[in-house]
Amino acid sequence: MKPIELESICKTFHLGDTLVKALDKVDLCIDRGEFVAIIGASGSGKSTLMNVVGCLDRADSGQYRLEGQSVRDMDRRQLADIRNQRIGFVFQGFNLLARTTALENVMLPLLYYRGSLPAGKARQRAVEALQRVGLADRMHHEPNQLSGGQQQRVAIARALVNDPAIILADEPTGNLDSRTTLDVLALFQELNDSGITIVLVTHEADVAEHARRVIEMQDGCIRRDLLIANRRRAEVTALAGRRSS
Ligand SMILES: Nc1ncnc2c1ncn2[C@@H]1O[C@H](COP(=O)(O)OP(=O)(O)OP(=O)(O)O)[C@@H](O)[C@H]1O
Ligand SMILES: [Mg+2]
Repeated sequence: MKPIELESICKTFHLGDTLVKALDKVDLCIDRGEFVAIIGASGSGKSTLMNVVGCLDRADSGQYRLEGQSVRDMDRRQLADIRNQRIGFVFQGFNLLARTTALENVMLPLLYYRGSLPAGKARQRAVEALQRVGLADRMHHEPNQLSGGQQQRVAIARALVNDPAIILADEPTGNLDSRTTLDVLALFQELNDSGITIVLVTHEADVAEHARRVIEMQDGCIRRDLLIANRRRAEVTALAGRRSS
């Protein structure tokens, strides 16, 4: 059973009188444990694809099976549960709550889920997620007391706290400098090495090279789908080693 299977997925937006085919018969299979980068020009459909894959938006037509289950047949509540339990989201702008500590931000997904955990257990899970991203010592800081890279790591901890099978990241390094970008990529690679399937949208070719598979979108279609060599990955592994030592 593959985590992500799209078959002939279409999504059209209406802009006044014009129709924009944001996704035009997209077929895409992503296997467990893959690390995939999605590239392509602005407006090519990358975010629309991520929104459909993340069940934030529905396709107009086509089949989408998430971990073998047809998303079309799910009601709102099932979709909310699957988003909360199976998928972690990371965005360019971090999307952390202001005036709220890192720890509280990371605990939020645990509180939204029905039948939520007892507070002590939730706190413990959030602390563990912050440890995983190397930020346990900043857990009482609020976003404006953290650097951009640290804020993104808090957002990644929040994405991890429910132990997702899949992480979807839309331009996660778009607001970061090159050094911090490498740190965040190293973290994604560690998570991928632990078995999490990662799909990451990026504008930057050198970011895409850290993935093992690169998919290029053009006008709502997949134009290219390539496996890439391991050179870049080796560099990131070396960096990840330095960071944790
Ligand atoms: N909610 C919407 N309403 C109308 N049109 C939309 C909407 N969302 C996306 N589009 C259109 O669909 C197309 C694909 O948009 P999408 O956001 O997926 O592109 P993208 O590849 O993520 O671009 P970028 O790199 O700039 O983020 C674009 O032409 C866009 O204008
Ligand atoms: Mg986009």
